[in-house]
Amino acid sequence: MNLEEAIQNSWRRIDEGQVATYIPALADVDPYQLGVYLFNIKDNKRVCAGAAQTRFAIESVSKVISLLYAIEHLGLTTVNQRVGTRQTGFAFNTILNMEITRETKPLNPFVNSGAIVISSLITEENGQSPVDQLLAFTRKICHDPQVSLNEEIYQSEARTGDMNRSLAYYLKAKGTLTRSATSSLETYFKQCSFMVTCESLANLGAVLANDGVAPWDGERIVSSAAATYAKSVMMTTGLYTESGTYSVRIGVPTKSGVGGGLVAAAPNYGIGIFSPALDQAGNSIAGLDLLERLSQQLHLDIFKY
Ligand code: DON
Repeated sequence: MNLEEAIQNSWRRIDEGQVATYIPALADVDPYQLGVYLFNIKDNKRVCAGAAQTRFAIESVSKVISLLYAIEHLGLTTVNQRVGTRQTGFAFNTILNMEITRETKPLNPFVNSGAIVISSLITEENGQSPVDQLLAFTRKICHDPQVSLNEEIYQSEARTGDMNRSLAYYLKAKGTLTRSATSSLETYFKQCSFMVTCESLANLGAVLANDGVAPWDGERIVSSAAATYAKSVMMTTGLYTESGTYSVRIGVPTKSGVGGGLVAAAPNYGIGIFSPALDQAGNSIAGLDLLERLSQQLHLDIFKY
């Protein structure tokens, strides 16, 4: 597999997308970046190319980590009672589905409403704030002690996050939030501002691909059930309204973030990709093009059996 060549080919698609501008600090990011890190857990081989060590905001990829953390701490049944596993058919920040269907529980953990509820479930423990717990868990599951909160991005998210604020207050009014709207939002905005690399996301993908066990030292980080649950929801809703499109084209459980990150958990592979120019749904254009090439060349499509 020639990663450099794959990057060059996918690079051509960058111009079709745009960096996220609704979070001002993300609007300043150079769109012309593409990086990939591939962790083969069977052969314990790691390869990377392009902007693989560049740090970027994790954004919605953090929803996979908070989901796993909540499942580990509260159990699958409680998490599933609070947040569903259904497609919304609407954008990631939609409020419409709950209004139309008169649902009080968000349809899935990857739309913002669901992610805010998941974050609200994490409460202070042994003097550790929810954000401190999530940061420690992110460093562990990404095998990256350098993950840290970018204060500028957090402030930018918090200043302009009125849509998320409306979701949180709506959820609070419906009795779905267990903490206050403001403290739930603080956790959510902060977890989105954690800075990662393609390598960190490849490690996260590798833990999921390895049934919840860290391939680097054999420690179980999450239960098999949590890993399976997360991958199933990534497959069905990880790329929002385009999840079906990429399920057919790529066939690998994947989660995107508006910082341009993608984490994928494929048979035998954890994959991290970064390219900040996004499609209309908020997914990395060149990143998904690259993942499609990898899927074809390495036979990663889980539906081709
Ligand atoms: O709340 C937001 O809108 C962002 N902090 C995260 C959204 C996001 O990454 C959606 N993913 N593609």
